[in-house]
Amino acid sequence: MRPQDPPANETPTERQRRVWDRMAPVYDRQIAFFERIQFGGGREWVCSRATGDVLEVAVGTGRDLPFYPPGVRVTGIDLSPEMLLIAQRLSAELGIDADLREGDAEALPFPDASFDSVVCVLALCSIPDPRQAIAEMVRVLRPDGRLLLFDHIGSHWWPVWAAQRLVEVATARSGEYMTRRQLPLLAPAGLRVVESERLKLGTVERIHAVKQAAHAAGEEDQ
Ligand SMILES: C[S@@+](CC[C@H](N)C(=O)[O-])C[C@H]1O[C@@H](n2cnc3c(N)ncnc32)[C@H](O)[C@@H]1O
Repeated sequence: MRPQDPPANETPTERQRRVWDRMAPVYDRQIAFFERIQFGGGREWVCSRATGDVLEVAVGTGRDLPFYPPGVRVTGIDLSPEMLLIAQRLSAELGIDADLREGDAEALPFPDASFDSVVCVLALCSIPDPRQAIAEMVRVLRPDGRLLLFDHIGSHWWPVWAAQRLVEVATARSGEYMTRRQLPLLAPAGLRVVESERLKLGTVERIHAVKQAAHAAGEEDQ
């Protein structure tokens, strides 16, 4: 086995940790380019809607940290220790008292109803089981709490979707999907969409949803 070969029987979650640990030193430079051409304004949009106790799932290198409004208390989790090290450094530089620690989006290390807002940016495209991650986000939200998502998604325009699908053949090997979409997963998870915007030929979506009280009480959402 060569040093760069993945270990045998690596799970999708272990693969994500390995891939993002390796990406960490170059991530900020690479994503800054896409923020200029495709993702502009997304971080501001979701962070400005966050209130109270905020959990950021898959916080990465902490690029959202500068955009939270004053007064919110930010907790961030990520699988990758190397991405988190950069986020912790940035948080210290900005003088933000954020609690940043390792955790898996699919098994959040927090009790039920711990947060007023949950934020997830550019990560449901790579979290191995997005349905399970959304279920966990809903679990840790308080009743009427806000789920704030921003991600790239599959376009509704077929030539663009077809190009994304081609790219995905390569990127899926490292666990990144270009044609996923989160919006249809939200109502079955007990969320009501309050605002959503689809931009850039339908390849980017921003969503503000709230946890429905009926779901919080464990009732069926009918
Ligand atoms: C494209 S980066 C996005 C980082 C950050 N949210 C941002 O907007 O720049 C994807 C991040 O998702 C994290 N990730 C992937 N799967 C995860 C999981 N199951 N639990 C927690 N973090 C995960 C990776 O470690 C990586 O930091």
